Amino acid sequence: MPDTELLSLQRDHIQILQQRYEQVLVAHGYDSLLVSAGAAPMRYGDDQSWHFQGYGPFLHWTGLAGQEHSWLLIRPGQVPILWLYQPVDFWHANLDLPEEPWHQAVEIHFREQQCAPPMALTGKLAVIGDPALLAKVGGEHNPADLLADLDETRVHKTPYEIACLARANEIAMLGHKAARDAFLAGGSEFEVSLAYQRATRQREAEAPYHSIIGVNEHAGTLHYQYYDTEAPARSRSLLIDAGVRFRGYCSDITRTTPAAGEGRFSALVQGLEQLQRRLCKMVAPGVDYVAIHRKTHEGIAALLNAAGVVSGLDDATLIERGITRAFFPHGIGHFLGILVHDVAGKRQPSPADAPFLRLTRTLEPGMVVTIEPGFYLIPSLLDPLLSGPLGDHFNHAVIDELRGCGGIRIEDNVVVTGDGATNLTREAGG
Ligand code: GLY
Ligand code: MN
Ligand code: MN
Repeated sequence: MPDTELLSLQRDHIQILQQRYEQVLVAHGYDSLLVSAGAAPMRYGDDQSWHFQGYGPFLHWTGLAGQEHSWLLIRPGQVPILWLYQPVDFWHANLDLPEEPWHQAVEIHFREQQCAPPMALTGKLAVIGDPALLAKVGGEHNPADLLADLDETRVHKTPYEIACLARANEIAMLGHKAARDAFLAGGSEFEVSLAYQRATRQREAEAPYHSIIGVNEHAGTLHYQYYDTEAPARSRSLLIDAGVRFRGYCSDITRTTPAAGEGRFSALVQGLEQLQRRLCKMVAPGVDYVAIHRKTHEGIAALLNAAGVVSGLDDATLIERGITRAFFPHGIGHFLGILVHDVAGKRQPSPADAPFLRLTRTLEPGMVVTIEPGFYLIPSLLDPLLSGPLGDHFNHAVIDELRGCGGIRIEDNVVVTGDGATNLTREAGG
């Protein structure tokens, strides 16, 4: 999509947000809403701050993930006012703000003070943001019922948001291809990370989450957080879960690559890929997301039997006895948007059989979700099963062979449309 089209969609996006926010403010009896962008806290006992990524509602309107100490005022029937912190500072640079059409939909002021701007407001004011920054600000701070309805304004993505998410997928896929090539060329986790960052042209601190890059057994730690700087003597598998931010919007993509000669593991990756594609096809309006999660367990059970990991237990028993959960312990996915785990996914708590599921809603057009089945060899979950009463049903030799490959996850980002879904990741060549 050419930039002019995207930029014109952004103006529509701001209009849509104005309508959605007006409705929420009126319903809750507020005359104005002040949104804090946030600011990076200092590390304890240190003079260094954490890397900053702004507060969701501020990004929802502005996309400016790196803009600290800034404020946005929303009022029904009035143009939003944006105060951007731009100090005269010879230690730090100010964020570059190229002239763009959305600036005409917002009144922008630059200021040198970090505190909330002086405002001559009448009526009832709500203020939302990090409580640490609101102490000296008037109005009602973070009213829970208001926040819940504001979160709801993020559930159905506007065409602008979907275009940004699509672009975030395209950029991330460049990184995933480079990461795969780096692994197959013998690269370490660190070198895979560098290849990903180079191809996406994004430093890791600005990514929506810390990339998960696991070679061999490390692929079996769901949020593996270190990078070995040396490749192992024998590289058998790579799992990389990494995204990018584009104008504030996140991608969240996982790919698993077997090394040459890993026939058994490679067959499992193919099996999980087929399952993942079937699950993506389930995404459509009216579908209960929990049903997609449960369908995943059916697929994992079938895979366990087909791969000869277990024998003598039918698929239903594998699910009932919690065996599929040992191989696939997390949820099938979540909402995606300004945050990687976007808000408002759980009107109802997760069901008892899916305690880590972050999304329990019925799908509607405009929602964007991830579909991310996994199949892992996690010692702390697997070993009690192997030594337990059903232990003889497991093929220990097959499991021992697979352990060294850690695990598999395949994750795409999918938009619910009027009559089905669009898979942004596969459309981006993933
Ligand atoms: N990257 C974290 C997740 O997939 O939810
Ligand atoms: Mn995810
Ligand atoms: Mn992910």
